Amino acid sequence: MNAAAPGKVILLGEHAVVYGQPALAAALTRSVGVSLEEGPAARLVLPDGMPTPEEILDGVVRIARAAGRRRGFVARVRSEIPLGGGLGSSAALGVALARAFCLDEGRACAPEEAERLALHLERVLHGAPSGVDPAICARGGVILFERPDLLTQGVPHPRPTASLAEGSDIPASRARIAPVRAPPFWLVVALTGLARGTRTTVLPLRDRRASEPRLYDPLLQRLGALTLLCRDALVQADVASVGACFDEAHALLQQLGVSCAELDDVVGKLKAAGAPGAKLTGAGGGGAAIAIARDEAQALALARSVPDAFVERVVP
Ligand code: MEV
Repeated sequence: MNAAAPGKVILLGEHAVVYGQPALAAALTRSVGVSLEEGPAARLVLPDGMPTPEEILDGVVRIARAAGRRRGFVARVRSEIPLGGGLGSSAALGVALARAFCLDEGRACAPEEAERLALHLERVLHGAPSGVDPAICARGGVILFERPDLLTQGVPHPRPTASLAEGSDIPASRARIAPVRAPPFWLVVALTGLARGTRTTVLPLRDRRASEPRLYDPLLQRLGALTLLCRDALVQADVASVGACFDEAHALLQQLGVSCAELDDVVGKLKAAGAPGAKLTGAGGGGAAIAIARDEAQALALARSVPDAFVERVVP
């Protein structure tokens, strides 16, 4: 049984979404695929002979069980995006596995179910996921994603909710998810080549924010406001305003402490090459950056200005 799911970029609102602010996410045309075979035990084969960490296998077994699988299996993974590179590889893998296990049990897998099952893997890898990554990987297009339950009386919640705590069952999503209807647009996705776990930025930020909420909360709230401005600019095909939102968001993410020298360097190069706006995407600390472009020609030129990048035409 074969199944696949797209990778993703967060256009705006990463990290802030963990505290109840809205985020904008877009699916990539590049995907993660799984082929499922019968096997005596549970086995996950990652590309290029990469070892499978115990915790990842544990998340995969949870997805299998939740999908109704009672037999052993071998799941072989192929990926068009770098694993751990900030482009949603773990969420895409979770969604692809959910689809493969459900199809193998003879039933379809609706986006809501794929998203819920994929959270088993997100939870072991991310520590405190908002759920935005599996939501976009399961739905495709561009979405506005929000978890209002993570806001406590207008103040961002400092801890993962019980629903996302280790060991608990994963209930139906509490997210508000709306597709964004906008004209297609051009993005450049630039890779730093630094793999990192989302935990390595989400959990330290949680601690920093808990000790200095007066410093961090206004930054998180401004990111939420920028997300809505960016959504409106995309709908109006206003590339200059999208770019301004990206630039301000990157500065805010730097202040939150989730950027790094490699990301700042890539963003600086994209800006110097004329990008209307550029920012880190996803958890930060490595991974990838994105730039908005006016058209395909500019996107291709921007991609040539950094060591490792590809161009995406995003179709909401
Ligand atoms: C990662 O793609 C997005 C973060 O906001 C984490 C999350 O929402 O789960 C950094």
